[in-house]
Amino acid sequence: LVDNFQPKRLAGQQVLVTAGPTFEAIDPVRGITNHSSGKMGFAIARAAREAGAEVTLVAGPVHLPTPLGVRRIDVQSALQMQAAVQAEIDQASLFIAAAAVADWRPASAAEHKIKKDGSGLPPALHFVENPDILAGVAASERAKQGELYCVGFAAESQDLLANAQAKRARKGVPLLVGNIGPATFGKDDNALLLVDAQGAQELPHASKTELARQLVAEIARRLPVAG
Ligand code: CTP
Ligand code: CA
Repeated sequence: LVDNFQPKRLAGQQVLVTAGPTFEAIDPVRGITNHSSGKMGFAIARAAREAGAEVTLVAGPVHLPTPLGVRRIDVQSALQMQAAVQAEIDQASLFIAAAAVADWRPASAAEHKIKKDGSGLPPALHFVENPDILAGVAASERAKQGELYCVGFAAESQDLLANAQAKRARKGVPLLVGNIGPATFGKDDNALLLVDAQGAQELPHASKTELARQLVAEIARRLPVAG
């Protein structure tokens, strides 16, 4: 239950959240994507709203209801997600990148459906790397000046702590959150590993709703004090 008597931890904050997968078209009927239900990102958007923030949610293709009071921008591809984030980021004081962004996209999407040509050979697909949305935001002047606090997630299938620490450094973010496996995709519960400059801290197994509230509280504790 939300404690209504507690002062709102994120009052006055403008929060931008990315959630869900991205979908990178190969042709009009197919594409590549990542496993992600969007549930964790949506739960974070809801928890941030409950904590008093103004929240904008940039969502990849997922079938989830928009949390009450949250402004939602739907996108498909990583490039569209990046454009939406760039259009909103100047307004934000907190950026939480929970999306499972596709690392690669087809170099060009075919205008028409690619047909089997009868040779028995698959078409050669060429991929290019997508921009790193989080790293770009974290490298911005406002983030470096402490006006914008950035939180990343890490999708790992092994060596979570070491990979999360390395990813935190590589992304240049103060807080990196790892999903404690096994695969949490689509599930309603999870456990999280929070990695910051002080070390690592576990948020034990709980519903994504509860974990999102705990994570929001942990982020609020780390925000620079206003004024
Ligand atoms: N991310 C992003 N843009 C990308 C790739 C990732 O904003 N093009 C963000 C994710 O939303 C997440 C964090 O970066 O917050 C880490 O994503 P992850 O896929 O774990 O890391 P990568 O840097 O892509 O490294 P790899 O997948 O190779 O482990
Ligand atoms: Ca990735």
